Amino acid sequence: MTPAIHSAAESIPSSCLHGIFRAAEEQEKQAGVDVMKLHVGDPYFNPGEDVAAAFVDAVQRGETKYTGVEGMTALREAAVEKLRVDNGIDSDVSRLLISPGSCQGLAALLQTLAEPGAEILLPELHWPVHVQQSLLAGFRPVLYRLDENFHPDADSIAAVATPRTKVLLINSPANPTGAILDRAEIESLLQLARERGWHVISDEAYEHFTYDREHLSVASLERDVPVAERIVHSVFTFSKSFAMTGYRLGYVALANDKAADVMKVVQEANIIGTSTPAQYAGIAALASRAQSTAANRKLVQHNRDVALPPLIDAGLLRELPAGGWYAMLDVGRTGLDSETFATKLLEAKGVAVVPGNGFAMRPHVDDHGRVTSHDYAPWAQHLVRIAFCVDPTWLENGIGRLLEFVEECDERSA
Ligand SMILES: Cc1ncc(COP(=O)(O)O)c(C=O)c1O
Repeated sequence: MTPAIHSAAESIPSSCLHGIFRAAEEQEKQAGVDVMKLHVGDPYFNPGEDVAAAFVDAVQRGETKYTGVEGMTALREAAVEKLRVDNGIDSDVSRLLISPGSCQGLAALLQTLAEPGAEILLPELHWPVHVQQSLLAGFRPVLYRLDENFHPDADSIAAVATPRTKVLLINSPANPTGAILDRAEIESLLQLARERGWHVISDEAYEHFTYDREHLSVASLERDVPVAERIVHSVFTFSKSFAMTGYRLGYVALANDKAADVMKVVQEANIIGTSTPAQYAGIAALASRAQSTAANRKLVQHNRDVALPPLIDAGLLRELPAGGWYAMLDVGRTGLDSETFATKLLEAKGVAVVPGNGFAMRPHVDDHGRVTSHDYAPWAQHLVRIAFCVDPTWLENGIGRLLEFVEECDERSA
């Protein structure tokens, strides 16, 4: 007899990204033509040759053994220096851990902070993985409201907080909305977290993709606070800034020594360590970051500025996203809900986009941390997400076909 699985993990729905990923591959196989893949946040450009060479050289030198659980000292020193100079964060090698991708770093950080029955505050429009990871760590996700420009405010967050709240998650620049929080907004969220005794997790995966304003790291506002009293844990990745998605490399700057010590135990149990050649590649990436990050930002900004304005003209997008790699389109006027829109667009025009409702999933969780049911915020039923970090020809072609599809829907309903 096959044993049943009744774990909390078994109750967690797979994300909207997973479904569309499979559907796009299936469509390509069946139709035998390229799908315009606007659904995945994978860039069309590659890391520099110095990064690839550092990886290959490390392999050829035989630097392929385990490294310590916290990562190579040379890489941690380089990351601490980068945080000091570029982000204004006062970290230390003793509080900085390298992880196999920031997704894993985030999951481990959540395990580090989780307590039975604790709640985590997440934006109501979020990266679905944040919800999945929170549930896996044993948190109960509580969603906070965003305004019409997808910005949070301290009052709406305070309104949904409870005595069980332990963590506030901030993601600026945001996936999927592209919103960037300004200094005043970050200050007010940080003050609230401080008053209530919460940890703050700042996911800064898109730190180098800000188009209209500078990136501000949340932890930079804690520079003058004694280390033991700091509350902001910051998560960074090499995937986006350096186009190193497949290298799987990220790092977490823990707020204080206690959290760093606990996360080391968590990582020992989870990963033993991070790929050694990937860490050598990371050292090279940080050394040449001034040129590479500026060049990569320029490529994505060019895509944004050239390809997205027709979506504004067509009334599907309010304004160009201020940061990140994604735009949320409102396709409500087609009369189709976001899932039907994405399915029909893929079938009719060979363009893959992600239905927006998956970014607004609301899980209901029982006392054992199992998801008993879930629904979607009704206002997200008209949203779809596109990624604009993809090949410019795909992007323009995909958006052209999407606009054609919307027009055809208009004609049908006229
Ligand atoms: C908001 C956000 N955080 C973290 C990640 C994780 O990236 P990685 O695991 O490749 O570092 C992603 C990837 O899409 C993301 O969108």
